[in-house]
Amino acid sequence: MAAPTLREDVAQTLAETPRRLSCRWFYDAAGSLLFEEICRLPEYYVPAAEREILTRHADEIIASVPAGAAVVELGSGSAEKTSLLLQAALRRRPALRVRYVPIDISAAALSAASARLASLPGVSVHGVCAEYEEGLAHLGQGARLVLWLGSNIGNFDREAAAAFLRRLVGKLNPTDRLLIGVDRRKRREAIERAYDDPRGVTARFNKNILLRLNRELGADFDPDAFRHRAVYDADAGRVSMYLVSERAQRVRIPAVPLEIAFAAGEGIHTEDSYKYSDVEIRALAASAGLRIERVFSDEAGRFCDVLLRVTASAAPPRAA
Ligand code: TRP
Repeated sequence: MAAPTLREDVAQTLAETPRRLSCRWFYDAAGSLLFEEICRLPEYYVPAAEREILTRHADEIIASVPAGAAVVELGSGSAEKTSLLLQAALRRRPALRVRYVPIDISAAALSAASARLASLPGVSVHGVCAEYEEGLAHLGQGARLVLWLGSNIGNFDREAAAAFLRRLVGKLNPTDRLLIGVDRRKRREAIERAYDDPRGVTARFNKNILLRLNRELGADFDPDAFRHRAVYDADAGRVSMYLVSERAQRVRIPAVPLEIAFAAGEGIHTEDSYKYSDVEIRALAASAGLRIERVFSDEAGRFCDVLLRVTASAAPPRAA
């Protein structure tokens, strides 16, 4: 199934109630830069926690795959932390080149990733601009370490995360390894601050999606007439992001075409980010046909990277 265009997607998701916009549209050039800014906020603990984990465990992670394995990364973004793993691969076998395949929806983020990693001698970067589903066709042959870092998996609901992993598992060999970033359940205050920082960077990131509709579809959203809101549902283990209309207002999107009457206080849902308990991590792995090799946590226990391999029964027989 081909990925929808912005116009096709918006025609559907903004016409329905409750109104929503897919988080895939966050990452145009401006949005990718704003996301990098989020990643430098002290409140958004995910990148720092993952950096701590990869700094400590990169060698062990790399040692889990055959020497010369390719590193394939889903949703690489600008690949800020991936160099820790690539450097570990170069340390292990300095004579072998490392093939790095970043797969990302954002062309801007991919060129930032290539620019960053081109400075590592011995690494060859083969970027693929694609969504996850299409990205599965670019895993290549031969041994690989597949990365899905940050809190990327959290943007899928639990069912969809397991289903996507099952499709990924269908493409993996017994010697391949998968390293998945998973954000842990934690106190509401810590989560809501991470997704609604006092400096308003996250609010700007969320509202950039409206500016994108203005730029690309000729819409007339006034971003100041919407408020960023992040709410954590502790039972569901999910933080949801909204853009809430401050007043009753009409917005036109000529390229669709669509005219929307927002009620005061009506929200547009833009993203969910699911958090996982240890039990939920084990259930996810089991239902995807994956076996947990190691769970690496940061010292504070906020976040983990889970190293996985396909379970024997899940691995398809290899065609010669
Ligand atoms: N995938 C990231 C996460 O769930 C994306 C993200 C971080 C995000 N902060 C955000 C998305 C704020 C929307 C709004 O952690």
